[in-house]
Amino acid sequence: MDEREVKILGIESSCDDTCAAVLSGNALLSNIVAGQQVHYEYGGVVPELASRAHQQNIVPVVDTALKKAGIEKEEIDAIALTRGPGLMGSLLVGVSFAKSLSLGLNKPLIEVNHMQAHILAHFIQTPGKQYAPPAFPFLCLTVSGGHTQIVLVKDYFDMEVLGQTLDDAAGEAFDKAAKIMNLPYPGGPLVDKFATQGNPEAFSFPVPNIPALDFSFSGLKTSFLYLVRDGKASSPDFVEEHKNDLCASFQHRVVSVLIDKIAKASLQTGVKEIAIAGGVAANSGLRKALEQEAAKYSWKTHIPLMQYCTDNAAMIAITGYYKFLRKEFAEYDLIPKARFGFAKQ
Ligand code: KG4
Ligand code: ZN
Repeated sequence: MDEREVKILGIESSCDDTCAAVLSGNALLSNIVAGQQVHYEYGGVVPELASRAHQQNIVPVVDTALKKAGIEKEEIDAIALTRGPGLMGSLLVGVSFAKSLSLGLNKPLIEVNHMQAHILAHFIQTPGKQYAPPAFPFLCLTVSGGHTQIVLVKDYFDMEVLGQTLDDAAGEAFDKAAKIMNLPYPGGPLVDKFATQGNPEAFSFPVPNIPALDFSFSGLKTSFLYLVRDGKASSPDFVEEHKNDLCASFQHRVVSVLIDKIAKASLQTGVKEIAIAGGVAANSGLRKALEQEAAKYSWKTHIPLMQYCTDNAAMIAITGYYKFLRKEFAEYDLIPKARFGFAKQ
C-alpha cells in the first residue's frame, strides 16, 4: 500500500475540546474541533461537564471530519485515539467511542500520547502550504494548559524530557492571571490580545530562580495576585485602568522565562533546531520572541500553524500514522491514563 494513501482517523477528547481529523499519509484532509462553552462562566474546565459535552459532540464531530475529508468510514485504515494524559472522564469518551468504531469497521486501533502528539503536529502537511518539518534531533518547548516541558526529540518516538514545570504549567499561569483580572476561561488568548496594546515594562515581576531546565510559575502568579490586590486597594478600577499593561507585563515575564530556558537547553545540547508546541505556542509574544532569538543564536525555528497549537485531532492522526507504519497497534483492553509519560514509548 502506498504510504500516502493510508487514511487515519484521529480522535481527541483529553480535556474540553472534542476533536476528530482525517489524514491521508501525512497530509491533512479534515480537522474538526468542537469547543465547550459550558466552562466559560466557571473560570476553568469542569471535568463532569466536559465528559458530558464530549458524549454529546463525539458522533457529529467524527461524522463531520469524515464528510469534510470526502471519505466513507469504511475507507479508514486505522483509528488513532488519545490515551492520555488528560481528564479521565473525558478520555473515556474518546477511547470507548474509538474502540466501538474499530470493532464495527474491523480496523485497527492505535493509542497516542497527547503530549507526544503536540510535538509530532510539526510533521502534518497542510494542503496549499509549503513547510519543511524539523530535522532530528530538535528541541521542542511544549507549553499547554497542563504541561510545560523542554523535550529533546531524537526521533518520532525517541523523546527525552530535559526539563519541566515543578508546579503550574505556562497555560495555567496565563489562565490564572486572567481569572485574577476577572477575565473568562480560557484566559490565555485574552491576555495575549490585551498585551498587544500594553507596555511590557509597566510592571516588573521577579524571575523565578529554578535550577537546570525546570520551570516554576506559581511564584509569578502569586506576585500578580498581590499586585492586583494592592492596586485594587488604592483604586477599585485598577484592573480596568491597567488591563493592557498588566497583560503585557505578565506575558513578557512568562515569555522571557520560556525563552531563557530554551536558549539554555540549546547551549547545553548544541541543538539549534528549535520548535514550540501546545496551546501557549499560539501566543503572539512567544512567537515573536522566538523569531528574535533565532536571529541572535542562528536557530532554525519551527512555529506551528495556529490550528495545530491548541488541542486538535490532526496531531493524534499524524502520530497514529507513524505508529501505523511501524505496525504498532493497541489491544481492546486498553484503558485511558490520566497521567501518561512518553519518554520510553
Ligand atoms: O494545548 P492546549 O489546547 O490544551 C492542553 O493540552 O492543555 O492548551 C490550552 C492552553 C490554555 O491554558 C490556554 O489559555 C492557552 O493554552 N493558550 C494561550 C493562547 N492560546 C491558548 N496562552 C497564551 N496565549 C495564547 N494566545
Ligand atoms: Zn494539549
